[in-house]
Amino acid sequence: MIGAAKAGVEVSITGLGVKVPDRIVTNDELSQYVDTSDEWIVERTGIRQRRIASDDEALSDLALPAARDALAQARLAGSDVDLIIVATVTPDMAFPSTSAIVADAIGATDAGAYDLSAGCTGFMYALAQAYAMLAGGLAHRALVIGGDVLSKILDWTDRSTLVLFGDGAGAVVLEAASSQGFLGFELGADGAGGANLWLPGSGSRKFDDPDRFVKMNGREVFKFATRILVQSAEDLLAKCEVTIDDVDVYIPHQANMRIIDHATRKLGVPSDRVVVNVDRYGNTSSGSIPLAMADAVADGRIGPGKLVLMTGMGAGLTWGSALLRWTKEAAA
Ligand SMILES: CC(C)(COP(=O)(O)OP(=O)(O)OC[C@H]1O[C@@H](n2cnc3c(N)ncnc32)[C@H](O)[C@@H]1OP(=O)(O)O)[C@@H](O)C(=O)NCCC(=O)NCCS
Repeated sequence: MIGAAKAGVEVSITGLGVKVPDRIVTNDELSQYVDTSDEWIVERTGIRQRRIASDDEALSDLALPAARDALAQARLAGSDVDLIIVATVTPDMAFPSTSAIVADAIGATDAGAYDLSAGCTGFMYALAQAYAMLAGGLAHRALVIGGDVLSKILDWTDRSTLVLFGDGAGAVVLEAASSQGFLGFELGADGAGGANLWLPGSGSRKFDDPDRFVKMNGREVFKFATRILVQSAEDLLAKCEVTIDDVDVYIPHQANMRIIDHATRKLGVPSDRVVVNVDRYGNTSSGSIPLAMADAVADGRIGPGKLVLMTGMGAGLTWGSALLRWTKEAAA
């Protein structure tokens, strides 16, 4: 699906918060667990370290501080929020949803709350849903959280997946804005490629001896990623009638530096407009784009009036782009 935001209600991000676990795991530390090296990981992925949750740290332990910071920035109380979406493939448990746990913790007693599963693209899907709920008048203040603790579903003896991922979460508040915020969205899914990145045995489908760890065909995912990051972004830019030269800040999903470089080159984005955090966090799945967004706000690249292009891709296989004119002014 693809659409330019033409509902007549401007919706934007008015608060942003992020949280990563304290523990830093370097490539050298991983080489104690599997047959790998700092040199191999840096050359093939650009990743130097990642954050890993402690044994008793679950998604909501990251989502909650991120959500509280986002609410504080938007000058809202939890009770002001009427919609909470948590995009994740590693909720605290299958049910209750992590969004219901967050709603309870922040006192959002009047909020609709649900988790959303779209792999690493989850945050983009959740932004689009929250936008549509606000633009359609069903909700007025939404909390959108993207986060994962993929370390819990990785096989710590499988070097082909272990070195790629990390843990982290980000949260944004969406409200009606005084000037244009979101300009449009493009979302897609190709279930035919699903088995290239999957978690067999994690649901109601029976598998023989499932170990419930992430399985991946890295080369196929690489091919998909390099194609879709470019295609999704180009389709959305055309739909919104803007060019890549108009984009001030480009936030691609932080999976692998080689994938980011490829997309950046093909799209023709100058490197100083590209946000990169994969070196410090690895691939944090649904946390990747909000964490990168926070970096770009902190370093001053994102500010009022800036045009931000974001594209995610991941398990499903899924993908999604959003185009946002940054404004932190709520309408009210
Ligand atoms: C996973 C990925 C980094 C592998 O890079 P690659 O250049 O395709 O490497 P290959 O899979 O061809 O493996 C090359 C060699 O390195 C080895 N290797 C794989 N992982 C390794 C590791 N962590 N450390 C050292 N060697 C490793 C392989 O066994 C292979 O050895 P061989 O030549 O003796 O068979 C790359 O395919 C990729 O990034 N794919 C996308 C994954 C992704 O982003 N997933 C999440 C999407 S949301």
